[in-house]
Amino acid sequence: MTDRLALYPGSFDPMTLGHVNIIDRSLVHFDQVLVAIMNNPAKVGMFSPEERADLVRAVYDGNPRVTVEVFDGLLVDFARERNATAVVRGLRAVQDFEYEFQMTMMNRRLAPELDTLFMMTDAEHFYVASRLVKEVARFGGDFDGLVPDVVATAMRAKLAAKD
Ligand code: PNS
Repeated sequence: MTDRLALYPGSFDPMTLGHVNIIDRSLVHFDQVLVAIMNNPAKVGMFSPEERADLVRAVYDGNPRVTVEVFDGLLVDFARERNATAVVRGLRAVQDFEYEFQMTMMNRRLAPELDTLFMMTDAEHFYVASRLVKEVARFGGDFDGLVPDVVATAMRAKLAAKD
């Protein structure tokens, strides 16, 4: 049997512990997780796509089952190119549902063979979003414990460079 590959797409600007939770749990069900750093035109980034990818690589350094790529284009095209078994997305609170439902339906229209699997984020992460973490950080709040240590360090460096 060929390897079962989960494609985990997102902005990851930056990766949070909520993302880590979804990846770790995906590894129980899939042989490989490919984290796809994709462009979301609705969002302005703190980190460049390459910087985001490097942070995910740093978090999973030494784990060959997690790979990271930057991709600019349609998610379904990338999934086909990489022969992904499924797309994985995390769900937090109810407000995620409509956004995810719309994207899933659009992707299904484009690629009916590609399924999207949702995982409920663990309770301790259900309020954690990259956008909120960045906001807390920008205004000097404590964001330790919301992102991996390597990400927290990179965020501090990024904010210090702006001052
Ligand atoms: O982490 P995000 O920002 O919620 O992820 C959204 C993302 C990047 C998965 C979505 O914007 C996406 O798939 N972008 C790639 C372009 C694409 O395929 N758009 C059509 C999807 S309906």
